[in-house]
Amino acid sequence: MARHIRLNAFDMNCVGHIQHGLWTHPRDRSDEYNTLGYWQHLARTAERGLFDGIFLADILGVYDVYRGSADAAIRNAVQIPLNDPTLLVPAMAAVTQHLGFGVTANLTYEPPYLFARRMSTLDHLTGGRVGWNIVTGYLDSAARGLGLTVQPAHDSRYDVGDEYMEVVYKLWEGSWEADAVLRDRAARVFARPEKLHRIVHQGRHFTLDAVHLSEPSPQRTPVLYQAGSSTRGRIFAARHAECVFVSGQTRANTRGLVTDLRERAAGFGRDPAGITIFAGATVVVAPTGAEARDLLEEYRSYASVEGALAHFSSSTGVDFSRYDLDEPIQYRPTDANVSALEAITTRSAEPWTLRRLIDQMVLGSRTRPIVGSPVEVADELQAWVAETGVDGFNLSRTVTPESLEAFVDLVVPELQNRGVFKTEYAPGTLREKLQGPGRAHLPAEHVGASFRKV
Ligand SMILES: Cc1cc2nc3c(=O)[nH]c(=O)nc-3n(C[C@H](O)[C@H](O)[C@H](O)COP(=O)(O)O)c2cc1C
Repeated sequence: MARHIRLNAFDMNCVGHIQHGLWTHPRDRSDEYNTLGYWQHLARTAERGLFDGIFLADILGVYDVYRGSADAAIRNAVQIPLNDPTLLVPAMAAVTQHLGFGVTANLTYEPPYLFARRMSTLDHLTGGRVGWNIVTGYLDSAARGLGLTVQPAHDSRYDVGDEYMEVVYKLWEGSWEADAVLRDRAARVFARPEKLHRIVHQGRHFTLDAVHLSEPSPQRTPVLYQAGSSTRGRIFAARHAECVFVSGQTRANTRGLVTDLRERAAGFGRDPAGITIFAGATVVVAPTGAEARDLLEEYRSYASVEGALAHFSSSTGVDFSRYDLDEPIQYRPTDANVSALEAITTRSAEPWTLRRLIDQMVLGSRTRPIVGSPVEVADELQAWVAETGVDGFNLSRTVTPESLEAFVDLVVPELQNRGVFKTEYAPGTLREKLQGPGRAHLPAEHVGASFRKV
């Protein structure tokens, strides 16, 4: 049997997520992001298409590197206004049964004790369908909002992250034993104090002396996602992540990242095949190739290159307004998204220029869309899997919700006919759906499992 492709719908609690300007399309509904009905419709649609999850990005701060100001981002709704992603999850869980929820949360700015309880709460309310995308941020504007002047340096954010993970593992895995909760009305004992453990942690960055406030949730530790592709980011991912997003621009680049990640994971004693790796994809599909290309042209007329440049400038820490159109873009050390800058400089065979970047920004982002009939799109997705070794795709939206609806109605059946996509959900928690029955918790070889008390 061919391996099944994994799919996440990639979204964010805002108007403009990745493809900027498309909110101005007459059929786009993303400006209803602040209503429950909008999210519940997306969740139902993703579950109708048997998607593994909805993956919610998040960022703290504004995109203010381009032309030295946030004006372009604000005008074009480039991830501002932006609401909290975690609060959407129970609303979407209420109208679905199987869909997973990957929620992004930045560990640089929130104490682990508070965060661990929020995730446990979500894991309870979703019946074990929650995942956490571990990010450390890349915007100085976030640091300024939180009482610092600049963000911590790139690699040191991951060092802090390693200790943060140790603390949350201790809370999720080590504070309550499996048989701590009795719920015994006759004996008048809800939970047995001797089965709870105080977590005493005195580290370089965190100090804590507390029991975890939540009783054990179905997965205890949420499914761990990560998206850093720099060398330090990959070491972090190989140690902690169960799902990884790679963004390598080209297939050759992506293949290199995937191979490196799996090798590093094996170095940490983990099963390299047990890490689920997603590449980003943007799809414009219609019943025929000609209709899809017409649709692309229609969408394209609403795209915003200014919004795309505002986004990419802050992602990389490079103000692209300072470049002439044909001047090669140079690598320079930044504390932003190192891997995104590497992808267009040191890890690119040909030099990138602003002209090449703009040329690529067909739909208001730096990701070129896959455009075609269901057969053409399925061919392309399968080719990506075969050539890069990724397990699936993080599908970003274009004109919403119609882009997700079209994918579900047109591409999913084509993938199913080819035997490369599931025809029903597996039972169980999100981790069991990804890893197999009986695997609701972190596997024994995962570093987090070492903090268990029986
Ligand atoms: C597909 C994808 C999604 C990401 N989503 C977020 C996000 O929602 N919030 C965030 O702060 N960073 C996000 N990032 C950025 C990464 O978490 C990371 O900070 C960034 O890649 C820089 O780390 P690196 O230099 O190790 O690659 C994302 C990256 C990728 C590739």
